[in-house]
Amino acid sequence: MTTRVLTGITPSGTPHLGNYVGAIRPAIAASQAEGIESFFFLADLHSLIKAQEPDRTQRSTLEIAASWLACGLDPDKVWFYRQSDIPETTELMWLLTCVAGKGILNRAHAYKAAIDKNREEQLDDDAGVTAGLFMYPVLMAADILIFNANKVPVGRDQIQHIEMARDFGQRFNHVYGKEFFTLPEAVVDEQVSVLAGLDGRKMSKSYNNTIPLFASRAELKKLIAQIVTDSRAPGEPKDTEGSALFQLYQAFASAEQSAAFAQAFADGIGWGDAKAQLLDVVDGHLAPMRERYNALMAEPEKIEALLRRRGAQLREQFAVPLLRELRNAVGLRDLSSVGDKPQEKAAAKVALPLFKQYREADGQFYFKLLDGQGNLLLQSTGYPSPRDAGQRIAGLKQADQAEALGGTDLKLQVEAGQVLEALAAMREAVAD
Ligand code: TRP
Repeated sequence: MTTRVLTGITPSGTPHLGNYVGAIRPAIAASQAEGIESFFFLADLHSLIKAQEPDRTQRSTLEIAASWLACGLDPDKVWFYRQSDIPETTELMWLLTCVAGKGILNRAHAYKAAIDKNREEQLDDDAGVTAGLFMYPVLMAADILIFNANKVPVGRDQIQHIEMARDFGQRFNHVYGKEFFTLPEAVVDEQVSVLAGLDGRKMSKSYNNTIPLFASRAELKKLIAQIVTDSRAPGEPKDTEGSALFQLYQAFASAEQSAAFAQAFADGIGWGDAKAQLLDVVDGHLAPMRERYNALMAEPEKIEALLRRRGAQLREQFAVPLLRELRNAVGLRDLSSVGDKPQEKAAAKVALPLFKQYREADGQFYFKLLDGQGNLLLQSTGYPSPRDAGQRIAGLKQADQAEALGGTDLKLQVEAGQVLEALAAMREAVAD
């Protein structure tokens, strides 16, 4: 059995070295493992929650696609696609919306954070909060469930969303009586490499301390020159511990190179020299990828064609057949087939025992109990009115006790135990 691993990437902005070291590189490496079927997609529908500038959305989607391909994602070995190319995802989202508890969505971190911020600023709770932000976890659940992903690698902040996807999937399975969906598991990498930025804090757009992944060598040089160091002079031994410069070097160098660099620190390498070495090792690693990136960006139509091709395959193989099944399961059906094929639940009912009431030529009212196959289990004597017969049936249906079968009005055709069992089965079906 292969394990399906699904990764969603929200296109926003240009990737930086921190994204590469912490997310892109490890995800691509993981996708090359045996026994794994990988799904990577550009979550462009999700990006609309934050970004409502069409040209930026388009550009960012292209840049992120080109980045992952340039970094070595092999589009023939993994499923690489664009969320909005699978319209069944949004259709599934609605089906899930109708089983998703609103209370669960109220507790989603991103939504709650927006509310908290409004309260702090003494605004209305929902000021500026779109329904898109609120529904975000349902769309994400649809992304995951539509391909029956087993594992979803995420950051800590996203674990809750995977729990929600499980919850919605499970509810749907329960309501419609079949294991339509595999329940996904979150995979959290405890040792995510967090790269330091130019100022020594975590490299992040919000700190404005990033180095763009595909910066030219000249830009790299300029940015590396800005990395904060201490004021020790050449010849003075330097600490590798807590050094953003050393950490960056390590992220792009072999173990031997890093060991030699650490030795150079101990031997008092000057910061200028250290930065020159850092530039060489980072640029050496990135240059071939940058070249691929620039080539890909120069031919966006190729990326477009690739995404469309993979999207079409995914629809044909998975999404369209699944939605056909789900539409039928929820009752969005061809009207001309009404009453045609009993659905599974109805079929189960047919197999249940049932009471039949009827009137005989003597003018009296009778009933009998038949099992699912139509075999006679018990036969009543005559009652003066249908109401009397109905009351006796109601009593039998409620009774738990063997005494219920007592009295001269009932003729058991099989053992009392079998009749009681049939009655219990009927009660259970009603309780369901
Ligand atoms: N919400 C994710 C993020 O911001 C992106 C995403 C969308 C995703 N759909 C997904 C991730 C499905 C995993 C699975 O990072």
